[in-house]
Amino acid sequence: MKRLLTGDRPTGKLHLGHYVGSLAKRVEMQDEYDSFLMVADIQALTDNWANPEKVRENVLNVVLDNLAIGIDPEKVTYFIQSEIPEIAELTVLFSNLATLPELQRNPTVKQEISEKGHIFKDGVVTYGFLGYPISQAADITFCRAEVVPVGEDQKPVVEFTREIVRKFHHHYGEGVFPEPKTIVGDIPRLAGLDGKKMSKSLNNAIYLSDSPEEIQKKVMGAQTDTGNEIVYDPKNKEAISNLMTYYKIATGKGYEEIEKEFSSVDSYKDFKEALSGVLIEFLAPIRERRESFDEDFVWDMLQKGQKRAKEEAEETMKIVKERICIDY
Ligand code: TRP
Repeated sequence: MKRLLTGDRPTGKLHLGHYVGSLAKRVEMQDEYDSFLMVADIQALTDNWANPEKVRENVLNVVLDNLAIGIDPEKVTYFIQSEIPEIAELTVLFSNLATLPELQRNPTVKQEISEKGHIFKDGVVTYGFLGYPISQAADITFCRAEVVPVGEDQKPVVEFTREIVRKFHHHYGEGVFPEPKTIVGDIPRLAGLDGKKMSKSLNNAIYLSDSPEEIQKKVMGAQTDTGNEIVYDPKNKEAISNLMTYYKIATGKGYEEIEKEFSSVDSYKDFKEALSGVLIEFLAPIRERRESFDEDFVWDMLQKGQKRAKEEAEETMKIVKERICIDY
């Protein structure tokens, strides 16, 4: 079986944007691929070095979110990044293959630095954060993954991994790592309920673990356009078109079908009520499954995953060290 690796930074709960942008692919692909799911705590610390407790607390949250959407712990190897020191070792070795300008012009890194202006004042960035794509290349290659389902924003980071793999092979001989392929979700950029980029700080996201009351409150407060027609017209009716995408996600219906369904509705409020209903229904099984796992089960599962990941990492490091002539 080919290998798949993906990961989440434990910095908060996962939301609907994550689900349609990448998580759903993991669920689809888990039967076809030998899958590794990493809780990227070390990467989370690259921009949360001052908040280690926050990272720690969210480890459980992201694992539960993944269990909740149906990532089967019998099939998938769940593990925590910091438990596999070989990944850090591989990061150091890969760092010789990455130049500063390559990192500085990486679109994902650039974007994140500008978004995190409060911690990287005047664009002054830490060595650790600037280098996170190197560490992510090690995450992906330690288990020799061939596919990496991620959000669209992460594409340049996976492309960077491919570059590292090519350079490694150029200097140390071919055939050690596959060049990983990016897999992006069906709806790569779901906007928040206010039409802006979905983010925790804007309070415009629906979390996979939100209660029916929370969902209803958020949906009823969502941005709409002027007028009252339910038509899909993202140019002129941006807000309602965005909400129709939510409806599509929850029901699997197409835009035309949704337009027809609401052709005699003449208030956005009625549409929002219907939307809140279908979202509650869509997320109910996810929330129920989340509640069915207890903490002991999670830590036990992570322990098992760590063992498997460690075996793969040791095997990879043996080859890497031979190739780099440090196999004393
Ligand atoms: N950078 C990813 C994110 O911010 C998380 C991540 C860490 C990851 N390591 C990975 C994703 C390896 C895919 C593969 O969402």
